[in-house]
Amino acid sequence: MVRLQTALPTRYASAGPSQLATWIEQAKVELGSRLIILGHHYQRDEVMVWADARGDSFGLSRIAADQSEAEFVVFCGVHFMAESADILTGPGQQVILPDLNAGCSMADMADVDSVEEAWSTLAAVTDIDRVIPVTYMNSSAALKAFVGRHGGVVCTSSNASAVLTWALADDAGGNSRGDQVLFFPDQHLGRNTGFELGYTGEDMAVWNPRLDSGGLDDVTLKSSTLLLWQGHCSVHQRFRPAHIEAFRAEHPGGIVVVHPECAHDVVEAADQVGSTDYIIRAVAEAPSGSVIGVGTEIHLVKRLDDETPDKTVLSLDPLVCPCSTMFRIDARHLAWVLEGLVNGEVRNRITVDEETAAWARVALERMLATV
Ligand code: 13P
Ligand code: SF4
Repeated sequence: MVRLQTALPTRYASAGPSQLATWIEQAKVELGSRLIILGHHYQRDEVMVWADARGDSFGLSRIAADQSEAEFVVFCGVHFMAESADILTGPGQQVILPDLNAGCSMADMADVDSVEEAWSTLAAVTDIDRVIPVTYMNSSAALKAFVGRHGGVVCTSSNASAVLTWALADDAGGNSRGDQVLFFPDQHLGRNTGFELGYTGEDMAVWNPRLDSGGLDDVTLKSSTLLLWQGHCSVHQRFRPAHIEAFRAEHPGGIVVVHPECAHDVVEAADQVGSTDYIIRAVAEAPSGSVIGVGTEIHLVKRLDDETPDKTVLSLDPLVCPCSTMFRIDARHLAWVLEGLVNGEVRNRITVDEETAAWARVALERMLATV
């Protein structure tokens, strides 16, 4: 997805770290309670030091919505998170993404046109009223609106199993909302959650958006309970069972915790699996002296290690890369947007049009009513 971040003026491009820190600090003081800076757990330290709140994607949007006096919400994260914040915040609040090129490669793997096409194909072979679309929070506002319009729901990595249960399980009267789920964009979260709920590989099929009919025949389209969009996170998909084996060989007694965006064979080999918040809690709750091998983004892993001196927290993959899009947000872009605000110029505002936001809110509210 092309987003157009202009090059920064020389003032920011050539400034050193202490100069940038001074500018950011001054702008924060000047803007006071009109400003809130939100920092996603995967952000660099040079950004996180300025965050008024840290959190996961959904948690940060809710914090922004609860801070109605903050006129400017500077979201240090990626594009879909800033969109969610705009959907959840009030009309007097403006959401700003310091670098417009901070997208999410996984979210970009499912666009609304391809999902509409998949939906029409499915409608031709199955009872579409019995298919529930479920989108992971890591998706565009347009996709959240799509699921809102079609009786579906958003999920996060913390509540995916509750959401799939809501979609598929029988209620007390023996009736279910749906017989099938179209889950996008992360096949791994969908598959891991399906297995957790007792579905088998035969109940699931992968929809390849680059192929006619997703690459699936009519029988498979009709009979699969979970149709998993062929998307993935390039950061989490890098972890392999061999990393866990190597960690266990080096640290017998070590604890392995991975994010559910990792492939299923990695999840199976781990001791614990859970969302970003879950991983943070798992480290906090591990006994003092533990060695914990973590399968998630490297900035969070390093921060957990730094902030938990009585435990050793390591990345399972010694060569792991940061999330390259999260990494785009840096002190230079933060200083640039903040000084803009001080001078009355709102740079890089993220807005979702009212109709899209209204339907996306329906899907988010269904999620909140579910979990
Ligand atoms: P959270 O929803 O836990 O913030 O995760 C977002 C993400 O991008 C994980 O890769
Ligand atoms: Fe997207 Fe993966 Fe980066 Fe999360 S870590 S923002 S899913 S690319």
